[in-house]
Amino acid sequence: MPNPYRDQPEVRAAGAAAYERHCANCHGEGAQRPVAEGPDLRRLNGFCQRLVDSALKARCLKDVDAYFLESVLDGKRRAGMVHMPPWRGVLPQETIWAIRSFVEAR
Ligand code: HEC
Repeated sequence: MPNPYRDQPEVRAAGAAAYERHCANCHGEGAQRPVAEGPDLRRLNGFCQRLVDSALKARCLKDVDAYFLESVLDGKRRAGMVHMPPWRGVLPQETIWAIRSFVEAR
């Protein structure tokens, strides 16, 4: 399922608040200042945004949505070390989508 809140500016404030609270330490304040700890989340849509065909672009964004959701729910581990904690059971899915909508608008 793609982000149901895509292009809904009214959810961005909630997404921004949740982002600042839970994600900004590692992914940068306002999702605009990359820091060493975590990747710049604005880059995730880069490939999709270059697609001209709108149907293909929508499919591409849907794939990135799935990756975003999975990354946040399960967190990130490398060689057994936690690079990002899992948020399953901590953040409701609607909040994760609101964060994604906020980041996409940056
Ligand atoms: C403790 C630091 C930390 C926090 C807090 C954190 N992240 Fe991360 N996140 C990371 C690191 C480090 C990576 C890269 C890990 C890797 O690729 O192995 C990452 C990767 C990601 C990815 C995949 C990005 C990519 O380019 O592949 C997404 C999406 C993501 N984080 C979203 C979030 C969201 C949303 C939040 C807040 C709910 C959050 N993160 C909170 C450290 C963090």
